[in-house]
Amino acid sequence: MKIIVCKDSNEVAKKAYEVMKDVVVNKPNAVLGLATGSSPIGLYNEMIADYKAGNVSYKDVSSFNLDEYVGIPKDHPESYETFMHKQLFDHIDINPANTHLPYGDTQADCDAYEKAMSDVSVDIQVLGIGRNGHIGFNEPGTSFDSLTHIVDLQEKTIEDNARFFDGNMDLVPKKAITMGIATIMKAKKILLVATGEGKADAVAAMKNGPITEDMPASILQKHDDCVVFVDEAAASKL
Ligand code: F6R
Repeated sequence: MKIIVCKDSNEVAKKAYEVMKDVVVNKPNAVLGLATGSSPIGLYNEMIADYKAGNVSYKDVSSFNLDEYVGIPKDHPESYETFMHKQLFDHIDINPANTHLPYGDTQADCDAYEKAMSDVSVDIQVLGIGRNGHIGFNEPGTSFDSLTHIVDLQEKTIEDNARFFDGNMDLVPKKAITMGIATIMKAKKILLVATGEGKADAVAAMKNGPITEDMPASILQKHDDCVVFVDEAAASKL
Protein backbone atom coordinates (compact mmCIF):
# COMPACT_ATOMS: atom_id res chain seq x y z
CA MET A 1 0.00 0.00 0.00
CA LYS A 2 1.39 3.35 -1.05
CA ILE A 3 0.17 6.35 0.98
CA ILE A 4 0.60 9.83 -0.44
CA VAL A 5 0.00 12.74 1.91
CA CYS A 6 -1.31 15.87 0.21
CA LYS A 7 -1.64 19.33 1.69
CA ASP A 8 -5.42 19.55 1.26
CA SER A 9 -8.46 17.95 -0.35
CA ASN A 10 -7.88 19.89 -3.55
CA GLU A 11 -4.47 18.30 -4.00
CA VAL A 12 -5.93 14.88 -3.09
CA ALA A 13 -8.43 15.25 -5.95
CA LYS A 14 -5.79 16.38 -8.45
CA LYS A 15 -3.30 13.63 -7.57
CA ALA A 16 -6.00 10.95 -7.52
CA TYR A 17 -7.12 12.13 -10.94
CA GLU A 18 -3.59 11.66 -12.34
CA VAL A 19 -3.86 7.98 -11.43
CA MET A 20 -7.35 7.69 -12.95
CA LYS A 21 -6.30 9.54 -16.10
CA ASP A 22 -3.32 7.26 -16.60
CA VAL A 23 -5.63 4.22 -16.57
CA VAL A 24 -8.23 5.69 -18.94
CA VAL A 25 -5.70 7.15 -21.40
CA ASN A 26 -3.76 3.88 -21.60
CA LYS A 27 -6.90 1.77 -21.86
CA PRO A 28 -9.78 3.62 -23.51
CA ASN A 29 -12.16 0.72 -22.75
CA ALA A 30 -11.12 0.54 -19.08
CA VAL A 31 -13.53 -0.80 -16.47
CA LEU A 32 -13.88 1.62 -13.56
CA GLY A 33 -15.08 0.65 -10.12
CA LEU A 34 -16.76 3.71 -8.62
CA ALA A 35 -17.88 4.92 -5.21
CA THR A 36 -20.42 7.41 -3.89
CA GLY A 37 -20.14 9.60 -0.77
CA SER A 38 -18.28 12.86 -0.34
CA SER A 39 -14.72 11.49 -0.74
CA PRO A 40 -14.64 10.96 -4.53
CA ILE A 41 -16.51 14.15 -5.51
CA GLY A 42 -13.27 16.15 -5.99
CA LEU A 43 -11.87 13.37 -8.18
CA TYR A 44 -15.10 13.28 -10.22
CA ASN A 45 -14.91 17.06 -10.66
CA GLU A 46 -11.37 16.69 -12.02
CA MET A 47 -12.56 13.98 -14.41
CA ILE A 48 -15.36 16.25 -15.64
CA ALA A 49 -13.10 19.30 -16.04
CA ASP A 50 -10.48 17.40 -18.03
CA TYR A 51 -13.17 15.78 -20.18
CA LYS A 52 -14.64 19.23 -20.90
CA ALA A 53 -11.17 20.46 -21.80
CA GLY A 54 -11.13 17.74 -24.48
CA ASN A 55 -8.24 15.80 -22.97
CA VAL A 56 -9.92 12.48 -22.25
CA SER A 57 -12.93 10.48 -23.37
CA TYR A 58 -15.06 7.92 -21.54
CA LYS A 59 -17.03 6.77 -24.56
CA ASP A 60 -15.65 3.22 -24.42
CA VAL A 61 -15.32 3.03 -20.65
CA SER A 62 -17.66 1.01 -18.48
CA SER A 63 -18.27 1.31 -14.76
CA PHE A 64 -19.41 -0.75 -11.79
CA ASN A 65 -20.41 0.95 -8.56
CA LEU A 66 -19.74 -0.42 -5.12
CA ASP A 67 -23.19 -0.30 -3.62
CA GLU A 68 -26.81 0.86 -3.61
CA TYR A 69 -29.65 1.06 -1.13
CA VAL A 70 -32.30 -1.63 -1.15
CA GLY A 71 -35.96 -0.62 -1.17
CA ILE A 72 -35.88 2.73 -2.97
CA PRO A 73 -36.40 3.19 -6.70
CA LYS A 74 -33.37 3.86 -8.89
CA ASP A 75 -34.65 7.37 -9.61
CA HIS A 76 -35.11 8.27 -5.92
CA PRO A 77 -33.27 11.56 -5.24
CA GLU A 78 -31.03 9.85 -2.68
CA SER A 79 -30.31 6.65 -4.60
CA TYR A 80 -26.68 6.06 -5.49
CA GLU A 81 -27.79 5.79 -9.10
CA THR A 82 -29.06 9.39 -8.92
CA PHE A 83 -25.87 10.46 -7.13
CA MET A 84 -23.67 9.03 -9.88
CA HIS A 85 -25.66 10.74 -12.64
CA LYS A 86 -25.53 14.08 -10.86
CA GLN A 87 -21.90 13.91 -9.79
CA LEU A 88 -20.33 12.28 -12.85
CA PHE A 89 -22.20 10.38 -15.56
CA ASP A 90 -24.32 13.30 -16.84
CA HIS A 91 -21.21 15.44 -17.35
CA ILE A 92 -18.94 13.08 -19.32
CA ASP A 93 -19.42 11.02 -22.49
CA ILE A 94 -19.76 7.65 -20.77
CA ASN A 95 -22.51 5.56 -22.37
CA PRO A 96 -25.25 5.18 -19.73
CA ALA A 97 -25.76 1.61 -20.96
CA ASN A 98 -22.19 0.85 -19.83
CA THR A 99 -22.73 2.09 -16.26
CA HIS A 100 -23.74 -0.48 -13.67
CA LEU A 101 -24.85 -0.28 -10.08
CA PRO A 102 -25.95 -3.28 -8.05
CA TYR A 103 -29.70 -3.32 -7.56
CA GLY A 104 -32.17 -5.61 -5.85
CA ASP A 105 -32.48 -7.66 -2.72
CA THR A 106 -32.13 -11.31 -3.72
CA GLN A 107 -29.16 -13.67 -3.90
CA ALA A 108 -29.80 -13.89 -7.65
CA ASP A 109 -29.36 -10.10 -7.93
CA CYS A 110 -26.06 -10.37 -6.04
CA ASP A 111 -24.83 -13.31 -8.15
CA ALA A 112 -25.72 -11.54 -11.39
CA TYR A 113 -23.73 -8.44 -10.38
CA GLU A 114 -20.73 -10.48 -9.30
CA LYS A 115 -20.83 -12.43 -12.56
CA ALA A 116 -21.09 -9.27 -14.70
CA MET A 117 -18.03 -7.87 -12.94
CA SER A 118 -15.95 -11.02 -13.18
CA ASP A 119 -16.71 -11.24 -16.90
CA VAL A 120 -14.90 -7.93 -17.44
CA SER A 121 -12.51 -7.39 -14.46
CA VAL A 122 -12.16 -3.95 -12.91
CA ASP A 123 -9.05 -1.97 -13.91
CA ILE A 124 -9.28 0.63 -11.15
CA GLN A 125 -11.51 0.67 -8.09
CA VAL A 126 -12.19 4.02 -6.40
CA LEU A 127 -12.81 3.75 -2.66
CA GLY A 128 -13.61 5.98 0.29
CA ILE A 129 -13.27 4.70 3.84
CA GLY A 130 -15.77 4.88 6.69
CA ARG A 131 -14.74 6.15 10.11
CA ASN A 132 -15.01 2.55 11.31
CA GLY A 133 -12.88 1.30 8.40
CA HIS A 134 -15.72 0.10 6.20
CA ILE A 135 -15.25 -0.11 2.45
CA GLY A 136 -18.34 -0.30 0.30
CA PHE A 137 -21.08 -1.19 2.79
CA ASN A 138 -18.81 -3.86 4.31
CA GLU A 139 -18.97 -3.02 7.99
CA PRO A 140 -16.52 -4.38 10.61
CA GLY A 141 -16.98 -8.13 10.97
CA THR A 142 -17.68 -8.76 7.27
CA SER A 143 -15.82 -11.78 5.95
CA PHE A 144 -12.79 -11.06 3.80
CA ASP A 145 -14.16 -13.78 1.49
CA SER A 146 -17.46 -11.96 0.91
CA LEU A 147 -18.77 -11.41 -2.61
CA THR A 148 -21.65 -9.11 -3.59
CA HIS A 149 -24.26 -9.44 -0.83
CA ILE A 150 -27.15 -7.81 0.97
CA VAL A 151 -26.37 -6.05 4.26
CA ASP A 152 -28.50 -4.81 7.13
CA LEU A 153 -27.37 -1.26 7.75
CA GLN A 154 -26.05 -0.58 11.22
CA GLU A 155 -28.02 1.80 13.46
CA LYS A 156 -25.11 4.27 13.29
CA THR A 157 -25.13 4.29 9.48
CA ILE A 158 -28.92 4.83 9.43
CA GLU A 159 -28.47 7.72 11.86
CA ASP A 160 -25.63 9.20 9.78
CA ASN A 161 -27.65 8.96 6.58
CA ALA A 162 -30.88 10.40 8.02
CA ARG A 163 -29.58 13.87 7.03
CA PHE A 164 -30.25 12.97 3.41
CA PHE A 165 -33.81 11.79 4.20
CA ASP A 166 -35.35 14.90 5.81
CA GLY A 167 -33.60 13.99 9.06
CA ASN A 168 -36.06 11.10 9.43
CA MET A 169 -34.45 7.75 10.30
CA ASP A 170 -37.69 5.97 9.32
CA LEU A 171 -37.18 7.05 5.70
CA VAL A 172 -33.62 5.73 5.49
CA PRO A 173 -33.39 2.34 3.79
CA LYS A 174 -32.50 -0.39 6.27
CA LYS A 175 -30.66 -2.59 3.80
CA ALA A 176 -28.16 -2.19 1.00
CA ILE A 177 -26.55 -4.30 -1.69
CA THR A 178 -22.76 -4.07 -1.84
CA MET A 179 -19.74 -5.57 -3.52
CA GLY A 180 -18.04 -7.84 -1.01
CA ILE A 181 -14.49 -7.48 0.21
CA ALA A 182 -13.25 -10.28 -2.06
CA THR A 183 -15.02 -8.55 -4.96
CA ILE A 184 -13.18 -5.29 -4.23
CA MET A 185 -9.83 -7.08 -3.87
CA LYS A 186 -10.14 -8.51 -7.40
CA ALA A 187 -9.68 -5.04 -8.94
CA LYS A 188 -6.30 -4.65 -10.64
CA LYS A 189 -5.67 -1.30 -8.97
CA ILE A 190 -7.23 0.34 -5.91
CA LEU A 191 -7.42 4.13 -5.55
CA LEU A 192 -8.58 5.17 -2.07
CA VAL A 193 -9.15 8.78 -1.09
CA ALA A 194 -9.73 10.09 2.43
CA THR A 195 -9.80 13.59 3.82
CA GLY A 196 -10.46 15.22 7.17
CA GLU A 197 -9.58 14.48 10.77
CA GLY A 198 -12.58 12.19 11.16
CA LYS A 199 -10.84 9.63 8.97
CA ALA A 200 -7.47 9.76 10.76
CA ASP A 201 -8.03 6.74 13.06
CA ALA A 202 -9.37 4.58 10.23
CA VAL A 203 -6.51 5.56 7.90
CA ALA A 204 -3.90 4.74 10.56
CA ALA A 205 -5.52 1.39 11.36
CA MET A 206 -5.86 0.55 7.67
CA LYS A 207 -2.17 1.23 7.04
CA ASN A 208 -0.42 0.19 10.26
CA GLY A 209 -2.85 -1.99 12.18
CA PRO A 210 -3.31 -5.74 12.08
CA ILE A 211 -5.10 -7.20 9.07
CA THR A 212 -8.42 -8.09 10.65
CA GLU A 213 -12.07 -8.34 9.66
CA ASP A 214 -12.75 -5.86 12.49
CA MET A 215 -11.08 -3.23 10.26
CA PRO A 216 -12.28 -4.08 6.74
CA ALA A 217 -9.91 -1.66 4.95
CA SER A 218 -6.88 -3.36 6.55
CA ILE A 219 -7.17 -6.09 3.88
CA LEU A 220 -5.90 -3.51 1.39
CA GLN A 221 -2.40 -4.02 2.87
CA LYS A 222 -2.47 -7.29 0.92
CA HIS A 223 -3.40 -5.74 -2.43
CA ASP A 224 -0.52 -5.61 -4.95
CA ASP A 225 -1.41 -2.19 -6.31
CA CYS A 226 -3.19 0.03 -3.80
CA VAL A 227 -2.57 3.76 -3.76
CA VAL A 228 -4.06 6.00 -1.07
CA PHE A 229 -4.29 9.80 -1.21
CA VAL A 230 -4.94 11.56 2.07
CA ASP A 231 -4.83 15.15 3.22
CA GLU A 232 -2.73 16.16 6.24
CA ALA A 233 -5.71 15.87 8.60
CA ALA A 234 -6.52 12.31 7.54
CA ALA A 235 -2.79 11.46 7.77
CA SER A 236 -2.39 12.95 11.25
CA LYS A 237 -2.36 9.59 13.10
CA LEU A 238 -0.08 7.71 10.69
C1 F6R B 1 -19.63 4.71 -1.01
C2 F6R B 1 -19.24 3.72 -0.03
C3 F6R B 1 -18.74 4.06 1.35
C4 F6R B 1 -18.03 5.42 1.46
C5 F6R B 1 -17.62 5.69 2.91
C6 F6R B 1 -17.02 7.07 3.07
O1 F6R B 1 -20.10 4.09 -2.21
O2 F6R B 1 -19.35 2.58 -0.32
O3 F6R B 1 -17.89 3.05 1.80
O4 F6R B 1 -16.91 5.43 0.63
O5 F6R B 1 -18.74 5.58 3.76
O6 F6R B 1 -18.02 8.01 2.84
P1 F6R B 1 -17.67 9.55 2.65
O7 F6R B 1 -16.83 9.65 1.44
O8 F6R B 1 -19.01 10.22 2.45
O9 F6R B 1 -16.96 9.98 3.89
